[in-house]
Amino acid sequence: MREELILLKQRALQNLAQSQNLDDLNELRVKFLGKKGELTQILRGMAGLSPEERPTIGKLANEIKEDLEREFSQKTIELKQQLKSQKLEKEWIDVTIPSKIVLGHKHPLTLIMDEIKEIFVGLGYEVVEGPEIELDYYNFEALNTPKDHPARDIQDTFYITDEILLRTQTSPVQIRTMEKRKPPLKIIAPGRVYRSDAVDATHSPMFHQVEGLTIGEDITMSDLKGTLEIFAREMFGQDRKSRFRPHYFPFTEPSAEMDISCIACHGEGCRICKYTGWLEILGCGMVHPNVLENVGYDPERVNGFAFGLGIERIAMLKYDINDMRLFFENNLRFLEQF
Ligand code: DAH
Repeated sequence: MREELILLKQRALQNLAQSQNLDDLNELRVKFLGKKGELTQILRGMAGLSPEERPTIGKLANEIKEDLEREFSQKTIELKQQLKSQKLEKEWIDVTIPSKIVLGHKHPLTLIMDEIKEIFVGLGYEVVEGPEIELDYYNFEALNTPKDHPARDIQDTFYITDEILLRTQTSPVQIRTMEKRKPPLKIIAPGRVYRSDAVDATHSPMFHQVEGLTIGEDITMSDLKGTLEIFAREMFGQDRKSRFRPHYFPFTEPSAEMDISCIACHGEGCRICKYTGWLEILGCGMVHPNVLENVGYDPERVNGFAFGLGIERIAMLKYDINDMRLFFENNLRFLEQF
């Protein structure tokens, strides 16, 4: 029996040395040391031993059992450690690699819109909105635009019915605001407008405008010029020069277009200003007395000025963009630059 025990120990240790994973190891533990394992089998033979032999064999058996158990736990620890370092080796992460976190951000047109709003809010203007689906009355009639005016042509305007259309300008918000409120007023009205234009580098059937309206007593053309000059300098830089050219709009009299000195060449003449040194940025004028009458104001007592500008145009000038389609195509390589 002593021999059997010693042989068992040897075999167990040999097997142990060869086992490569925790499953093998468990199997071996059961095979040699389990309840029905080989050691138990051998110890069953104890009954046939003489009383003198029993204590020594018993002691030996216990020693072997303890030895083997120690070896098994030792080996278990080793294997676990091995597994862990293998895993660490395989799954390492280089925390020093620079990461690229892409955050969402505002569209360039929204940035320009926000900037314009901030400037006028700083000048005491209030931001209001009006509908994009509009009545002919607000878009044209009340704005002193006669029935035979070319802007009312079906070529230029998206009509829904004879009387309902997609607004071609933000100017109808002037009428809607004045109808609802009493003077004095200082409002801007940003929003989408629609025109029946084919898409190209400078045209889009949908684009954005900001309308402005000031109504009070004894408002003059100097108020208009002062306000818009402040705006142009805030928007395009303090050294910006501006000039006003006579123009025609049905809803203002007199009317003008405002130019700023070219932001690229500062008036020298270049590709962007088409070698004139000037860039047109908006339309404006003193509100026509007929418009004031249409909303029930007395043109003898109140007057004011109005202006309207195209957001896409301002954004193209400010960011030196030569194709309006870029704003609407949502190509990330374009948008990510802002
Ligand atoms: N509504 C005009 C347009 O779409 C722009 C404009 C010009 C608005 C003069 C105004 C203004 O309020 O006074 O071209």
